[in-house]
Amino acid sequence: MSGFHEKNNALYAEDVALSDIAAEYGTPTYVYSRAVITTQYEKLAGAMAKAMPKSRQPLLCYACKANSNIAVLNLLQKLGSGLEVVSEGEMRRGLKAGFDANKIVSTGVGKQDSEIAFGLKEGIHQFNVESIPEIYHIQKIASELNIVAKIVFRLNPDVSGGGHHKISTGRKRDKFGISIERVAEGFNIAKEMSHVEAVGLSMHIGSQVFNVQSFREAFEKLPNIVHDLRAAGHKVERLDIGGGFPIIYNDEQLLDLDAYAQWVNEIIVPLETEIIMEPGRYMVGNSGVLLSKSIHIKETQDRSFVVLDAAMNDLIRPTLYEAYHGIEPVENRQRTHKLYDIVGPVCETGDTFATDRSMAEMQAGELAVIKSAGAYGFCMSSNYNTRPLPAEVMVDGDMVSLIRPRQSYEDIFGGDIVPDFLK
Ligand SMILES: Cc1ncc(COP(=O)(O)O)c(C=O)c1O
Repeated sequence: MSGFHEKNNALYAEDVALSDIAAEYGTPTYVYSRAVITTQYEKLAGAMAKAMPKSRQPLLCYACKANSNIAVLNLLQKLGSGLEVVSEGEMRRGLKAGFDANKIVSTGVGKQDSEIAFGLKEGIHQFNVESIPEIYHIQKIASELNIVAKIVFRLNPDVSGGGHHKISTGRKRDKFGISIERVAEGFNIAKEMSHVEAVGLSMHIGSQVFNVQSFREAFEKLPNIVHDLRAAGHKVERLDIGGGFPIIYNDEQLLDLDAYAQWVNEIIVPLETEIIMEPGRYMVGNSGVLLSKSIHIKETQDRSFVVLDAAMNDLIRPTLYEAYHGIEPVENRQRTHKLYDIVGPVCETGDTFATDRSMAEMQAGELAVIKSAGAYGFCMSSNYNTRPLPAEVMVDGDMVSLIRPRQSYEDIFGGDIVPDFLK
């Protein structure tokens, strides 16, 4: 059985009971399903294969900011994926996981000298340039290394896309990309450079984009821009159309992938470029849960609290984006419901996973899962309150493998140094 499902009144990851994983690895622990990641990759690649000609199949560059565990990266690399990275660290993870440098694209508004140099030396596919000053920056490093950097300009199409204002990236006021009005200037500057070659455009309007028309609106801006740039003698041979596909957290109406693929076929394919996509959340979001245990059930005059052993440091999305995650008991799942605030032990009122949530009546010491936590979960975790980062495991059928052990206290503060002047 693939994915997460209920059997005999208990929750399973593929063929493994989550309670067995908790007994073996403790809580909180992230649990990922190999089958779900594989299915998601194949669904996206399959929709593109169905809608678009063979010669124009996109390079799917998994945006590894969503989940950068090397086991997850290795799986996606084996499935044929490329990689989108925003730091030297992510690039190093990708290379360690086995990605060919030529399938890695580097984005980000503030690439540092060492990151640009590292990418150039490794021979990555392209840098997605987000500002005019960045062209000069890349030229300087590339000329020092005597390597020609292939760049594309990230357009800011002024389209609002994300499912929350903090994950909208394509509005004029956002820090990302170059405005449509200034992109030709970017190409003109690059033309004068000895070690920078501008070869195309990119865009990414936001994450969890469930107003799917936003994709179309953004795509439709491209043909005129491409024609104008070509008419001015510039090379536009690559179009990177970003990520942003939504997943189901609650009761969202999902993007019709076939319709999306048709739009790419209708609007982008006729421009006769290499096509790159940067899906992150779609690949991994529903592949993971955060397995946790209730420490107490606390009743006050006003409310009932479930206090979990997972907290905002393990999964910050509810605190940061008011994001919804389903939360359910792992065993004995048929019972009456009650209204709870579901919180963690961290010393912040914001350490709240859900407020006024109807949930099966819980008891202290029981297991619970926080669902759809495979994307922007572990990779955004921190040591706040000196809490160890959770363990991560991957399930494949009836096999479970630890893919990152729980952090030890030595890992957290063993590197702290008391200066001599305090001794
Ligand atoms: C440039 C870029 N590409 C791709 C992504 C992945 O987005 P998503 O996980 O929504 O697919 C992001 C996420 O913010 C991004 O900033």
